[in-house]
This record gives sequence, structure tokens and C-alpha cells, in this order.
Amino acid sequence: MINQHIYKNGQELAAHFADFFLQQTKDKAVFHVALSGGSTPKILFDLLAKEYADRFEWSKIHFWWGDERCVPPTDEESNFKMTKELLIDKISMPSENIHRVLGENDPVKEALRYAEEIQATIPTKNDLPRFDLMILGMGPDGHTASIFPHQIELLHAKPICAVATHPESGQKRVTLTGATINNAAEIAFLVTGSNKKEKIHEIFNEEKDYKQYPAAHIQASDGNLSWYLDEAAAGK
Ligand code: 6PG
Repeated sequence: MINQHIYKNGQELAAHFADFFLQQTKDKAVFHVALSGGSTPKILFDLLAKEYADRFEWSKIHFWWGDERCVPPTDEESNFKMTKELLIDKISMPSENIHRVLGENDPVKEALRYAEEIQATIPTKNDLPRFDLMILGMGPDGHTASIFPHQIELLHAKPICAVATHPESGQKRVTLTGATINNAAEIAFLVTGSNKKEKIHEIFNEEKDYKQYPAAHIQASDGNLSWYLDEAAAGK
């Protein structure tokens, strides 16, 4: 089932998604969520820190990353650094619940290690790790996590994690691959900005080259997919 939610701006989107996120954690003893990087989640993390710090039971929530740049955790490019500064440092989450990709390590070895940590920690269903919630963004080129159009085959890669390369910068990334992303119980795209509206229109209307966009291939294989869009991304 695909749900589409359109909000005036990123702040309204984040407020509604935060309530959804909170609700999803209510009846769970342990909750595994994969976070995304980029700028859209910054609005959400800032809101969670400011208005939800005391509403979540952070001790039962585990943070993972759907993708991470292969840089040290102190690097400005690090998705972990962004999350730590905006959210983790402002909530009381046990350190053992924070499962960062070790971006400072060799990418190939880290992709293997992260996959092992996921498999050792997260329950499986359909012979794959099953995240309770997978938060994704979408780039202007239709990429999601760090699966870019030029490496769309990573959607179908057998390993749970793979090493990806940013098409412009060549930066190495560790990313979850398609099957694990699609196996999550709840998948939520958070997409803002008018630079996404063409791709959103093509994906939702299955027009032009939409199959070339990795985001178009994210379908909850055994769960729910929701798109949280601001009006700019929805082309309103
Ligand atoms: C990353 C993200 C990436 C992001 C998109 C959208 O590591 O950069 O995981 O996939 O979600 O690029 O980013 P914005 O929300 O900033 O547009």
C-alpha cells in the first residue's frame, strides 16, 4: 500500500512524520530504524530534539543508517555527525543503540562488517533483515540511500550492504541494497524541494524514464510505503 502525504513545507512534513514515527514505536519492545542523510532529515532531527526528546522511549530505539559516506565521523560529510549534532547529543539514547557505519574504515571491509552487525542484531523476515522503519530521501537525480542511477544494479545486489560511488564526486559510500530496504515493515520517503518535482511527477505517473530512478523501485515487499512530500516537491 502506498500512502502519499503532502504538506506545505518541511516543518509541517517533519511534524506529521514525527507523530507517525512515535506512533510506530508505541507497541514495540525494540525498534530498529534506518536513518537517511542529506538536508531533509535535518528538519526532522531538529524537531525531534526540540519537541520529542521526552516523548520517545529512546532506550528501546536503535539508530542505523541506510547509507553513509566513507569519511571519518568527524567529517562535515558524515551523516552520523549530522545526526549526532542535531539529535543524538540531545536525547538520552544508550550508546549501544547507535549503530553507525564506520566511515573511517576501508569501504569494502566496512560494508561486510555493517551487514554482519545488521544480521546479528535485527530480526529477519523473508530471509532478510527487517527494519521496523526505513527513512529515505530522494536526490534530484532520483537516487535514494546511496543507490544512484549509474549503479542501479545495487537495487538487486545480493549482499545486504554494498559500496557505492557518488556520480559526481566519486566519493565512496556504504549503502543498504534494495532487497533489505524493501523488506522493512514501514518505508517512508521524506522529500522536499522543487528540484525533486519532475522526478516525483514521473515516478508517480510512471512517465518517461522513471524506471531509471532507483527511488522508483522502492516498493514495500512486505509492509507499507509512504511518501511525505512538501508542496514544492509535489509540484503544487
Ligand atoms: C545522503 C542521503 C541521500 C539523501 C538524498 C536527498 O547520504 O546524501 O542518504 O540519499 O537522502 O540525497 O537529500 P536531501 O534531503 O538533502 O535532498
